[in-house]
Amino acid sequence: MAKPLQVEVYNPNGKYRVVSTKPMPGTRWINLLIEQDCRLEICTQKKTILSVEDIISLIGDKCDGVIGQLTEDWGEKLFSALSRAGGKAFSNMAVGYNNVDVNAANKYGVAVGNTPGVLTETTAELAASLSLSAARRIVEADEFMRAGLYDGWLPHLFVGNLLKGQTVGVIGAGRIGSAYARMMVEGFKMNLIYYDLYQSTRLEKFVTAYGQFLKANGEQPVTWKRASTMDEVLREADVISLHPVLDKTTYHLVNKERLAMMKKEAILINCSRGPVIDEVALVEHLKANPMFRVGLDVFEDEPYMKPGLGEMKNAIVVPHIASASKWTREGMATLAALNVLGKIKGYPIWSDPNRVEPFLNENAPPPAACPSIVNSKALGLPVSKL
Ligand SMILES: NC(=O)c1ccc[n+]([C@@H]2O[C@H](COP(=O)([O-])OP(=O)(O)OC[C@H]3O[C@@H](n4cnc5c(N)ncnc54)[C@H](O)[C@@H]3O)[C@@H](O)[C@H]2O)c1
Repeated sequence: MAKPLQVEVYNPNGKYRVVSTKPMPGTRWINLLIEQDCRLEICTQKKTILSVEDIISLIGDKCDGVIGQLTEDWGEKLFSALSRAGGKAFSNMAVGYNNVDVNAANKYGVAVGNTPGVLTETTAELAASLSLSAARRIVEADEFMRAGLYDGWLPHLFVGNLLKGQTVGVIGAGRIGSAYARMMVEGFKMNLIYYDLYQSTRLEKFVTAYGQFLKANGEQPVTWKRASTMDEVLREADVISLHPVLDKTTYHLVNKERLAMMKKEAILINCSRGPVIDEVALVEHLKANPMFRVGLDVFEDEPYMKPGLGEMKNAIVVPHIASASKWTREGMATLAALNVLGKIKGYPIWSDPNRVEPFLNENAPPPAACPSIVNSKALGLPVSKL
């Protein structure tokens, strides 16, 4: 028989058994669970990605809820195991849930939580950091300096792109895409072109008002445009950032043909999910177009990169850290724990998953509600009146 995975147990005599497949930042989420009579078991096994079998062993014979991670495959096998153990609650510690088969969860009556609202600014800030780093070739210049190659100022040394007055393109102007657009428009006075299935009226209003403000101060006003196709954004923008959800419609959204539409010196940023870009086609494009640059937080076959990507000087690659600020990661842990706790306690669903501040206030008890359950309608769960 396989050796049981290592776990750390809190409040061993708690009435409800909750499992977290990973240790998560902060302690508030732990305290919130144990104060509400949960026995909490945190898997501390030194293994980055747990297999389905590992998680089935953690669930065991009796389990009321699980907090899991986006690297885990939450489908039929896990939801049936959780249901057999009496569990009705699962939460991803992530806003995206493309690792979760929600239909399978519905079949077993398991609520699926996610953690929106708390990642928005942090993720947008990383996309902005990658945009700047790519535009000004920060990583290449840093490597050059550390290698002792700098022997004096030169007019051509690491010349990059000025962002002011250029056009930023956003594909998927939801929460994160809109926050990123605002940063680039307001911070660097870039014009905006965006493509989304829905109109982002708030974003349009913001850019209009900011443009008027600049004009009133004698500066060139910024402009915005909602593109009718994604290709329009690719052709016109100087910096393009991808922020859609990953689903059937966005898989390989950026492929060989679409890369060819982009400007030769364009910058492409991806902080959404790896498979939104055809990474093999991207490597070929980077090789053929040395002035084209990318900033990638996510990869098609995470944790791996497609062959050749790691050697490309015109690619900046970071290991899926877009949500990695202390505030955000602790907030994600709190929201995930409260999703599971709320379902166990029979609480209703919070009416607006984007307005999660009341759950994050450390000086007050959280509302008696589940912050965000993505299949609440399918399961017919009641909505909070708070
Ligand atoms: N790298 C990270 O660590 C990290 C962190 C947070 C979120 N994410 C990813 O970012 C995604 C977006 O998060 P969000 O909170 O902004 O979600 P959101 O739902 O607010 O925004 C997604 C937007 O994409 C749009 N969209 C969907 N299909 C599209 C298509 N085919 N073409 C254009 N637009 C399309 C939607 O209309 C929506 O406006 C998440 O689903 C997640 O996968 C990654």
